Amino acid sequence: MTVTIVGSQLGDEGKGALVDLWGGDADVVARYQGGDNAGHTVVQDGDEYKLSLVPSGAIRDKVGVLGNGCVVNPKTLFSEIDELRERGLDPDVRVARRAHVIMPYHRVLDGIEEEAKSDSDLDAGTTGRGIGPTYEDKAGRRGIRVGDLLDPEVLRDRLEYVIPQKRALAEDVFGVDTGEAFDVDAVYEEYVEIGERLREESMTVNAGEFLGSHVDAGDDVLFEGAQGTSIDIDHGIYPYVTSSNPTAGGAATGTGVGPTVVGRGEVVGIVKAYLSRVGTGPLPTELTGDDEELADYIREKGGEFGTVTGRPRRIGWLDVPMLRHAARANGFTGLAVNHIDVLAGLDEVKVGHSYGLDGEELLTMPATTERWGRCEPNLREFEPWPEVDWSAVAAEGYDAIPENAQTYLEYLSEEVGAPIYAVGVGPDRAQTIELANPFEQ
Ligand code: IMP
Repeated sequence: MTVTIVGSQLGDEGKGALVDLWGGDADVVARYQGGDNAGHTVVQDGDEYKLSLVPSGAIRDKVGVLGNGCVVNPKTLFSEIDELRERGLDPDVRVARRAHVIMPYHRVLDGIEEEAKSDSDLDAGTTGRGIGPTYEDKAGRRGIRVGDLLDPEVLRDRLEYVIPQKRALAEDVFGVDTGEAFDVDAVYEEYVEIGERLREESMTVNAGEFLGSHVDAGDDVLFEGAQGTSIDIDHGIYPYVTSSNPTAGGAATGTGVGPTVVGRGEVVGIVKAYLSRVGTGPLPTELTGDDEELADYIREKGGEFGTVTGRPRRIGWLDVPMLRHAARANGFTGLAVNHIDVLAGLDEVKVGHSYGLDGEELLTMPATTERWGRCEPNLREFEPWPEVDWSAVAAEGYDAIPENAQTYLEYLSEEVGAPIYAVGVGPDRAQTIELANPFEQ
């Protein structure tokens, strides 16, 4: 069967902990979108591994697949694999031949365009990894695919077509001097070599066939979503979004198995008990003004600083309309709620239960970000819960969670319409309380 893990909010919901927990029960862990804009930390036998591209299951002797919906920076991939090998591991990572390659000019253009957009406040606060420009070329049918790196002739043809355009864009439109990243010969030499390494290490696969044969053989496959529903290019707060589909439908298009395969499995929404945001754009439940001190406290306690960029994250109360939107867009069969320990010991705990907009009450997000930005949250207050020994709570299980936190969790589950499969009460692997294993549903 399959289990798809999806971020319900704006990314950084703590998906890694659940991928880590349930990936252990899977035979294959596959990513279906995004690239090295993601970041997750895996702790294995007391050692910490920070990864942005290698699927975390690959550390636990599982096959890790980067599906066709991913954009792959092979340099990041190799440096992560090399580092893991230096630390004594032997990760088995396969990359879809249909996945697109983040080229050096994509990263440069990401920075240039963000800078240009910042004059009109349209910059998305990207991670600068070249994600948007790569997906742009994919849709524009001028991208370089992983399979192209294995065929020097095709690669040369593609580069000769695309690089002069990119150079003209950088120089003539944005007025920026270009360097080696826009030089056909230099890029060709470097990427032919990358292709050789991919071939030598037998890393490339036809992802759909590869994953389909595992599914047919009755293996358990975990689809690991990166980012989150509200930064999905279609269902998120456009234009402050990433350029892929983190939502569950992406698990089918981004790997090559059918939507029925994904739909027959479980789709688990990962929720952080409050809201955090690393990019720009509106945020109706953001803690600002008089609440800034509280935001600072939650940020520090929750370690809310970007994994990839180190940027401090913006903090807000849980946005329930955002979760209702995510539940519909993904079809959640279950939820995992993280970080309830971070809210412990506060004087007040609130959630944005609905929005007020132009005299109306809205229960889900409006479709335009401009209208979303004008929404006033209708806050609902919950009795706070005390600070407790969370390791002891984790050892004892759900019933040991303070009663008021249980009330909060039950409210959330009811509003979203899905049962809770797990509750995160701390950052360690052992601090996730499992109520149900989706592979056993
Ligand atoms: P990009 O994915 O680098 O193009 O960035 C586009 C938007 O998505 C920006 O607002 C980023 O901050 C956000 N973003 C990208 N990856 C992540 C992530 O893994 N967690 C949270 N936000 C992300």
